[in-house]
Amino acid sequence: MTSVYIHLPFCSSICTYCDFSKMYYDKKLIKPYLKALKDEIEKIYQGEEIRTIYIGGGTPNVLDMEDLQALFDILDIFNKNKIEEFTIECNSEYLNKEQLLLFKKNGINRLSIGVQSFNDKLLKVLGRNHNTEMVIKAIEVSKEIGFNNISLDIIYGINGQSMDDLKHDLDMVLTLDIPHVSFYSLIIEPHTKLYIESFKEIDEDLNEEMYRYINKVLTKNNYHHYEISNYAKEGYESKHNLVYWHNEQYYGFGLGASSYIGNIRYDNTRSLNKYLKGLYKKDEHQLESKEIMENEMILGLRLIKGVNKEDFYKKYNKRIEEVFPITQLIKDNLLIDDNDYLYIPQDKLFISNYILLQFLG
Ligand SMILES: C[S@@+](CC[C@H](N)C(=O)[O-])C[C@H]1O[C@@H](n2cnc3c(N)ncnc32)[C@H](O)[C@@H]1O
Ligand code: SF4
Repeated sequence: MTSVYIHLPFCSSICTYCDFSKMYYDKKLIKPYLKALKDEIEKIYQGEEIRTIYIGGGTPNVLDMEDLQALFDILDIFNKNKIEEFTIECNSEYLNKEQLLLFKKNGINRLSIGVQSFNDKLLKVLGRNHNTEMVIKAIEVSKEIGFNNISLDIIYGINGQSMDDLKHDLDMVLTLDIPHVSFYSLIIEPHTKLYIESFKEIDEDLNEEMYRYINKVLTKNNYHHYEISNYAKEGYESKHNLVYWHNEQYYGFGLGASSYIGNIRYDNTRSLNKYLKGLYKKDEHQLESKEIMENEMILGLRLIKGVNKEDFYKKYNKRIEEVFPITQLIKDNLLIDDNDYLYIPQDKLFISNYILLQFLG
């Protein structure tokens, strides 16, 4: 069984922080894009049973009803007999009853809503197209239609954001009773509006205080902190994202998407012109065994549980300590070895990038 990521790159406005593969929505582009997507899937997909599908963006739900149905018809190519999780990423401003019923009819069982903030002033800084009222309405309607498996994306650590602002975001997550939430610290990526306009980063200590506060409030309220930025109520962990963090195989289709199949990583082109001409792939890279083991650790150490030592041995016929210099990191309490798992202790997760750099020598 395997997993599938589908990328829809269209957005009606471009957020100030965004460095994803995206472009302005234009109705005229959708039919040719869906045709190219269908061709790509038919050429590559081998008919395996699919466990999870994730439709991401861009803004997949900016598409109108006709185009969304055409997209779902294409996804019927996949063997979905044993599908466990079928997610679509949504922006709240387009979510309405009609759209949600279409999702339901086509088997979607999880919504990932890009909320970013429950503060209209900060939403403006982030260049979002919605306000808090729209988000609350979208969540209410989603629940009415029967979507209980909902995830929200929230950004914190925005210069100008106070601890009270963050408390308000957390209160909203709790009040709306959302079973899964991702809290991302704002990264000012090159080529984004924030970067070009020299938007300043938040004070590092305040950012760390925010990270710790999020952690404290959510864990106290029965959320399981299962990945650096991700929290879930019991049973609501993202099955699709766990495929990535467990370094398992997946297909990625669409502009700028990546696949990992048979130890080869494929990266699709970000050029729409090329993609529409059927020149999907930009890079193809056969991973050496050392690289595969590094990925296993870099991804697995993002999980709070960490990397299972026995599974690593079964997969690579080597013990983690034979491959990576971990003794000093364990002595320094930057890594914990409890005999079953190797993991980064919770209070050091904030510096996980530093730990991974040490780890990779
Ligand atoms: C695949 S992205 C985009 C999803 C969707 N288009 C949206 O805007 O909601 C998923 C999430 O990553 C987060 N993200 C994207 N760029 C970021 C950045 N520069 N810094 C922090 N978080 C970011 C946002 O929370 C976003 O919702
Ligand atoms: S953050 Fe999402 S909605 Fe905003 S521009 Fe990027 S992909 Fe589009």
